[in-house]
Order: sequence, then C-alpha cells, then structure tokens
Amino acid sequence: FRRNLITSNSTQMAIKNVVVIGGGLMGSGIAQVAAQNGQNVTIVDLDQKVLDKAKNSINISLQRIAKKLFKDDSVKAEKFLSDSMAHVTLSTNPEQAVNQSDLVVEAIVEKLNIKQKLFQTLDAVAPTHTVFASNTSSLPIGEIAQSTNRKDRFVGLHFFNPVPVMKLLEVIRIPETSDDTYNLVMEWGKSIGKQTVTCKDTPGFIVNRLLVPYMMEAVRLLERGDATARDIDTAMKLGAGYPMGPFELLDYVGLDTSKFIIEGWAEKFPENPLFKPVPTLNRLVEEGKLGMKTGEGFYKYQKK
Ligand code: 3HC
Repeated sequence: FRRNLITSNSTQMAIKNVVVIGGGLMGSGIAQVAAQNGQNVTIVDLDQKVLDKAKNSINISLQRIAKKLFKDDSVKAEKFLSDSMAHVTLSTNPEQAVNQSDLVVEAIVEKLNIKQKLFQTLDAVAPTHTVFASNTSSLPIGEIAQSTNRKDRFVGLHFFNPVPVMKLLEVIRIPETSDDTYNLVMEWGKSIGKQTVTCKDTPGFIVNRLLVPYMMEAVRLLERGDATARDIDTAMKLGAGYPMGPFELLDYVGLDTSKFIIEGWAEKFPENPLFKPVPTLNRLVEEGKLGMKTGEGFYKYQKK
C-alpha cells in the first residue's frame, strides 16, 4: 500500500499552488498565466510597491485578454477577470509563502549569488515535494541549483516577454532533474497554455542563444554604416517575418538586459566571436538610453 501511495503521488501530482518570486515584468506575467488558468498564485517581492504594481499590470493585461476572449459577453469577461484576480495573493515573506507550494518560480535580479542564497533559504523551509525553477535568461541552472539539496526537483523555466502573449516555454533540464520533475513541469507548461520545448543547460538555451547574437550582429551592421536601424528593422520584418526588427526588439527587451547577457557570455567564452562586446550598445547604456522603459534606446518613445 505504501509503495502504491508513493508511486501515485509522484506520477499523479499536479501543480496547484505556485509561488512566483519577483514581482517585475516577467514575474507578474508568469503569475498571471498561472492564475488565469485556475491555479493559486502567490507573488513574492520584498517591496510592497512592486507587488501593487504587479497586481495592477496583471489586471490591465487580463482586461485586454478578456475583451478578446469574450467580445460580446461582458458578464463572462467580468467573471474571467474576477476569477483570475481572486487566484492572486501578494506576499513580502518568501519563507512563509512557499509553505504550501507545489512549484516555486524565481524571476528576481540576474545575480548568481543572490539567486543561490534565495534558493538555499527556501530549500530549508519548502515542502519536500516542491519543485524549484528559475526563469533566468542567461545564468546556468546547474549553478543556481547547486545551493539546494533538491537538484532532482530543479529546472529552468524560461518565459518570453510579454508572457501572456508569447506561447513558448523553454524547459531546461539539468543532469540531476528527475523524470518525475521533468514530466510534471511539462504538464504544467501545457496547463498554462504554453508550448514547451526542452533544452540542456547551455548558455542562452535555444531562443536567446540565437536571438542575442543576431541582435548584436544587427548593431555591428549599423556600426559599419551598411544600413540604417530603420531599414534593418524593416528588412527583418518584411524579409524574414519577424514581428519586430532587431532594434525594436533590443529597445523592447532593454539595452541593459541585452548588454548584461552578452557581457556574461563574453567573460565566460572569450574565444567565441558571437559574444564580442558591441560599442554602440555600451555607449547607449552609459547614456541611460535603455530602450522603451527610459523613453529612448535606438529609437525615441513617448513616456507613458
Ligand atoms: N497582455 C495581454 N495582451 C497583450 C499584451 C499583454 N501584456 N501585450 C500585447 N497583447 C496583445 C494585444 O492585445 C494584441 O491582441 P490582438 O492582436 O488580439 O488585438 C496583441 O497582443 C498584439 O499587440 P499589439 O497590437 O499591441 O502590438 P503588436 O501587434 O506589435 O504585438 C508583440 C506586440 C506581441 C510584443 C509583438 O510585437 C511581438 O511578438 N514582438 C516580439 C516579442 C519577442 O520577441 N519577445 C521575446 C523577447 S526575448 C525574451 O523575452 C527573453 C528574455 O530572456 C530576454
């Protein structure tokens, strides 16, 4: 009987209670997609203002989705909105929040030692069955997991901005990730409406490994004076079917974020020409032109 119980627990457990650590753009998007699919979500951030902003942006995004899903039915739209919002809880206490969790997704600052410290703390208090995941864009999952005693229940879950719209979820397995954990998060990905792809713990996983060098090569093309930013963007949108050109995308992702990713890789893999520093990017970041969020990057934007 006992063996049956253990087997059925490990193979049939579904994720119902999700904790998202970090209430920024990615954290609030991840929390939203879980909440709108009926899961209980707690967003944790040390700053109450960040939490309030996260809740507000989830509300705005859900309204856009509700309008689309229930065009002619305002009652259903309202119910979708209130049901989804009712699944969201805010907390400033990570240790307390993970008490009842099945899955913890971390989306905090991209600093290895801070992530390690967070997971080390949570590892001591979270239930044994809880799966830990990091949404890091460029840090090795294995190095983050190093700080815990649950490497078999550790994965990378990499989402894309804007999370409610982008259909992809990259699932990163480290060698220690168990099959049960892997199957569970693949199922979870499906349950929140994402298409999953699996990747090893390699720099940039699939999307950023291709996208970041491509964006950097676009800046090099501009630096050589071969074409204007506008024409490069138009070319890639109309000639390759991208929704945004490389400069629009750099401004959208944030020039600081892109610089941080490429610099980290350049330091680790100095011999790889794809990861060479890009002077224009460094200059714009130095000038505080970080893209849409600051009102200027490669293009100028009206501040909201
Ligand atoms: N919440 C809900 N709905 C949203 C939304 C949000 N936050 N943002 C956009 N939408 C919806 C809009 O309501 C609209 O719906 P409709 O077509 O049914 O009316 C639809 O998405 C399109 O939005 P817009 O009309 O406002 O604008 P666009 O057509 O220009 O689309 C975009 C915006 C979805 C951002 C599109 O330009 C795009 O796909 N861009 C590429 C984004 C991308 O490549 N992201 C990945 C970046 S890399 C990354 O995140 C990895 C990290 O590690 C760095």
